[in-house]
Amino acid sequence: MNKQKYQWPEYTVGVCYYPEHWDESLWESDLDRMLAAGIHVVRIAEFAWNLTEPEEGVFRFDFFDRFLDLCAEKGMKVIFGTPTATPPAWLTKKYPEVLNADQNGLPYEHGARRHYNYNSPIYREKARIIVTVLAEHYGKHPAIAGWQIDNEMNCETCEFHSEADQEAFRVFLRETYGSLDALNRAWGTAFWNQTYTAWEELRLPGHVLNDGWNPHQRLDYLRFVSASARSFCKLQSDILHRYKKPGDFITTNALFWHIDNPKMFEESLDLFGYDSYPNFAFGLNREEVLKDQGYGVEGDLNDRLSGKSLSEVRGICPHFAILEQQSGAGGWVSRMEGPQPRPGQIRLWAMQSVAHGADFVSFFRWRTCSFGTEMYWHGILDYDGRDNRRLREVAAFASDLKKLAPLCGSEYAAPLAIVKDYDNACDAEVDVWHGRLSFPDDSAIYQQAQLSHVPCDYLHLADDSALEDLRRYPVLIYPHPAIMTGARADLLKAYVEQGGTLILGCRTGYKQENGRAILLPPPGLLRELTGSTVRESGFWHPAEPTVTVEWNGERFEAPLFQDQLEAEGDAAVLARYDSSWFAGTPALIEHRLGAGRCLHWGSTFSRPLLKELFAYLGLTGRFDELLDLPEAVEIAERRKDGRRFLMLLNYLPEAQEILLHREMRDMLEDRPVSGKISMPPFGVLVLEA
Ligand code: GLA
Repeated sequence: MNKQKYQWPEYTVGVCYYPEHWDESLWESDLDRMLAAGIHVVRIAEFAWNLTEPEEGVFRFDFFDRFLDLCAEKGMKVIFGTPTATPPAWLTKKYPEVLNADQNGLPYEHGARRHYNYNSPIYREKARIIVTVLAEHYGKHPAIAGWQIDNEMNCETCEFHSEADQEAFRVFLRETYGSLDALNRAWGTAFWNQTYTAWEELRLPGHVLNDGWNPHQRLDYLRFVSASARSFCKLQSDILHRYKKPGDFITTNALFWHIDNPKMFEESLDLFGYDSYPNFAFGLNREEVLKDQGYGVEGDLNDRLSGKSLSEVRGICPHFAILEQQSGAGGWVSRMEGPQPRPGQIRLWAMQSVAHGADFVSFFRWRTCSFGTEMYWHGILDYDGRDNRRLREVAAFASDLKKLAPLCGSEYAAPLAIVKDYDNACDAEVDVWHGRLSFPDDSAIYQQAQLSHVPCDYLHLADDSALEDLRRYPVLIYPHPAIMTGARADLLKAYVEQGGTLILGCRTGYKQENGRAILLPPPGLLRELTGSTVRESGFWHPAEPTVTVEWNGERFEAPLFQDQLEAEGDAAVLARYDSSWFAGTPALIEHRLGAGRCLHWGSTFSRPLLKELFAYLGLTGRFDELLDLPEAVEIAERRKDGRRFLMLLNYLPEAQEILLHREMRDMLEDRPVSGKISMPPFGVLVLEA
């Protein structure tokens, strides 16, 4: 299925600009210098509500009129942001119910950002008005190329506990369940005497003892937060659609927690946007950040791991936009202390975005702000605005992109996809028995795929996903789908029957959609597909050595959790546990079904095991005929009109040797190359095979 609704006609470079942060006398020379550096789009206005509505109901347009007219005169295109991430002080003072609150119900104060809630009827009305006023006034302006809704929805916080949310949660539950009986059943309220007898008794899972929330309630809460954010986005996109010029796009900078992003894209956006800050991998608070992003602390790919999020974005919208691309050290005054990008890294990271599917890259930001929380979030230029090496690097990247014009609109070629779905993503957060397995494995699979040079996509599965979406991949890995629905089980079965290979890990299929365990032997609805069942399961006992498995004469770790498997029918046991009290029990079962096969692995996925699995399934060695390259270099293959392009990225500060087995064209140097090539530190090589 082609998920692309908007596509840039050519690779385009942009920059985030805040005209309200600078003296107007700088605007013209700033725009001239941007154009000279190959920057043709500015992204503006996403935090500037007051400039248009300084007082309730009083609107002025002179500021952005002047700026947009200047852009039009210069031939600079503009992405205009709706300002709802930062409500004005007059608004939060007069209508405090628009504020979000923490888990104890304590409202956030005016002063930072994203302190509003999505459900307050007043905030929705005020947002409707400001977006309408802006869209009506600027919608037809020739400088505008597209619209950004809000800014990073669910960044800063993805938890909502205001009174408006309490109210809206009850409405959401009524719509979902229809009756209290159905809700009580779904939430298992017979446990700990939680039975609800009136809708008014229902609350968001908030301040409870010992994190002892009802897990089914919390699962519904995460679905509710997603529905709230998506409906706020849709409210704005409906307005923008009404007023924008044909051909202009609607986007947002996304991929935050507690939002079903593929659904938000489908409902409201033409173009998916992402903010790429690979330098997070090197900040002084690196471990905290990696953990926060669900990477676990095993983030040894460092900045290369950013490709994981880019791949998730590609699974939503194959040709996406980078609305903010790192161009300097990152840091807030109050937290985060990042190092400066080394020479070459800004270009490398921007090329990483392109390799993964961005055909628009907008750097954050033109000039570092000299005041406020983000005065250490460095832009291209420093406070003084002088030309510098970062600007030269951005300009070099823009000129590189011209040479890569034939790649624009090409497709990322991947034989493998990691399957994800919103229900299980939420369940992994609610249920530590699930999250402890899922979060590190999601990273481990991506990391090993990178190191084995197995290009890998993400496939976002929903009940209405099309079989063709799955069939694009010879191999799918769905690591720990605890929740399984009938529709998804049928889809997976059809995929295998038609020739696909599906890998499943431990804890597959033991829950229903509401998070309650099913009363069938695991993997429940998938039993016919896996040709296996689980006799017993449990966490590794910390008093014992790590559990191991013997496969083809080699030993592999089966860390953390083990399902003791049993083969059924004609399924074959490929490997058995060879330690602990269940030594000899099957650990890996292969079941051939129709034209394909399913591999059921009883544990979590260690990297050595993944490496072996990739080789067993013929995924490795994809580029062997063309070249030899070290693990340290990423390779992305992009295809278009029968042409094959290889983008090679060296993330290390040391040169890397590549050996080409035949002559290819170096697209950046525009010359044929063969034999040994040395890639410089942080270097990029683009070859046409
Ligand atoms: C995010 C935001 C920007 C800015 C940068 C740097 O991506 O969207 O407004 O805050 O981070 O912190």
